[in-house]
Amino acid sequence: MRGKARRVWLAGCSAWPQKNRVSDPDYIPSSIARARNIADLRHMARERLPRMVFDYIDGGADDEMTLERNVSRFRDIELVWDALANVSDIDTSATIMGAPSASPFFISPTATSRLFHPRAGELAVARAAHSAGVPYACSTLASTSVEDIAAANPGTKWFQVYVWRDRALVTEMLARAKAAGFSAILLTVDVPVAGNRERDSANDFTIPPRVTWRTGAQALAAPHYLWDLMTTPEIRPANFAHMKIDGGLIGFINAQFDRTVTWQDARWLRDSWDGKLAIKGIATPEDAQRCVSIGADAVWVSNHGGRQLDTAPATIDTLPRIAEAVAGAAEIILDGGVRRGSDIVKALALGANAVAIGRAYLYGLAAGGERGVRRAIDILDGELRRTMALCGRTRLSGLTRDLIFRRTLS
Ligand code: GLV
Repeated sequence: MRGKARRVWLAGCSAWPQKNRVSDPDYIPSSIARARNIADLRHMARERLPRMVFDYIDGGADDEMTLERNVSRFRDIELVWDALANVSDIDTSATIMGAPSASPFFISPTATSRLFHPRAGELAVARAAHSAGVPYACSTLASTSVEDIAAANPGTKWFQVYVWRDRALVTEMLARAKAAGFSAILLTVDVPVAGNRERDSANDFTIPPRVTWRTGAQALAAPHYLWDLMTTPEIRPANFAHMKIDGGLIGFINAQFDRTVTWQDARWLRDSWDGKLAIKGIATPEDAQRCVSIGADAVWVSNHGGRQLDTAPATIDTLPRIAEAVAGAAEIILDGGVRRGSDIVKALALGANAVAIGRAYLYGLAAGGERGVRRAIDILDGELRRTMALCGRTRLSGLTRDLIFRRTLS
């Protein structure tokens, strides 16, 4: 037996005699503690997940140029340092949208976390964020309700929204989020239509997954995942459990996505919510100024992790001009391509106040549930502290543009 067939066979054999281990919700592969970096967690996630689910996390739109650029442009930026700077006392504590955070990064909203770990899901992510002292942002399309998430995380929580076709549904969700203790909303504006994710169609992947010979074979090759999937409730958009939804998540999105949304609707949302508001998915200084003019508290520089408009520039490249245009009138959040603590240093040095992480923690979630997410957070925080020390800067306010070696600035 060769190659893939052999790996499938071995995975099946290793699961069989250890059925208790497979069904134990607290089972964590010991390798999680040994993950040295986010790339290690990604590797473990790939081993544990059916290929279609791994590809859904890992992939992007069209030719995945933006996906790749988000990461590689961070690597093109070079850092310099202050020598002999007494770095005995590093402090990474931050305030993000009025909330204290142990580090200048937080958990980005990602749809249906239970897809990546059917047993752990959003609750594990919310708990890991709380225990690490960083804010947790919940997707509107979460597979766990805002009320259940709030019960698991008494700390800082934010809620991501779209302006749905049914505005009453949006208002109802805002009221539920407020009642559950979510202190900010995050309006996503880079999804006028769904991006073209070709890995998903190649894998026959849908949410919830359909059974075809391809998806069936991929699921059988991931016995731990399959066991969790078969022994936990169906993965659905839990915030809308009271509604009759035809066609699963995609059916819901198709029914509710409104292509007519404009800045007037963003203003309506601003007026409908008395907490903090961030606008997520901004790529130009002009749109950043529009966010400020409607009263947003934060401008979120994002291209949806390269999952929407392909060939969009890397977020780290659009950040400096956006920060210049905003000029302190709102906070700046950046996501996209953050895989190392040094990426966080670069984003802050180029004008971001905070960074949101998506794939980095999803790899941890898929690899090992709550402990995997916590490991992802700890890895990034540890790398951030080390990078600050190596740069000779002990405070986030010291992460300024002079740390960026000028050759790389165009
Ligand atoms: C959801 O927002 C996705 O990018 O899949």
